[in-house]
Amino acid sequence: MTARNTPTPAEAGTAAPECKREAALKKKYRRHWEDDFSVDWDTTEYVSRREFTRFLGLSSAGMALGTTVIAAAASLKGEEKGESPRVRVGRIADFPVGASKAFEYPRKGLYALLVRHEDGSFSAYSQKCPHLGCAVYYEHEKNVLECPCHEGFFNVKTGDVISGPPQRGLSVVNLEVSNDEVWAVGGGGH
Ligand code: FES
Repeated sequence: MTARNTPTPAEAGTAAPECKREAALKKKYRRHWEDDFSVDWDTTEYVSRREFTRFLGLSSAGMALGTTVIAAAASLKGEEKGESPRVRVGRIADFPVGASKAFEYPRKGLYALLVRHEDGSFSAYSQKCPHLGCAVYYEHEKNVLECPCHEGFFNVKTGDVISGPPQRGLSVVNLEVSNDEVWAVGGGGH
């Protein structure tokens, strides 16, 4: 323990109210063992209520962030495992022969294109051109899928390249037609 000749502001009774309270606490909790395991109260750092609250706040924010990251990782893992989403594209009656419709698949922000053929069947492909990523559209008069960026053309029944710079065909979206409805059930990855 450090010997002191001059009384502290608390001992002299001139300390601020906060310091008086601190001095009272020191006195109250002083025990014999303090002589052997002494704590220098003047140099010890206290954890204030504000610091503790800030610590709790940061811990909670960290836990919330961790939970979000884990949920996102689990979702990605599900996609990696091949768990394709099942998305309703529309009713069969909504698509006359030669109709086409863009819809979000396999996830929000990614688009696919559904086309109804003359024989009544359907095909769907990722709308993203495999060349540089422009959106392809259905050119009804030529009955082809066309990428307007560099004139890439694709077979509407298979998605294969007909002409232009793309080196591979469009990614096929698997469809299921049941109960008068068309559903996207897989594929369409980029
Ligand atoms: S981006 Fe489609 S042909 Fe170039």
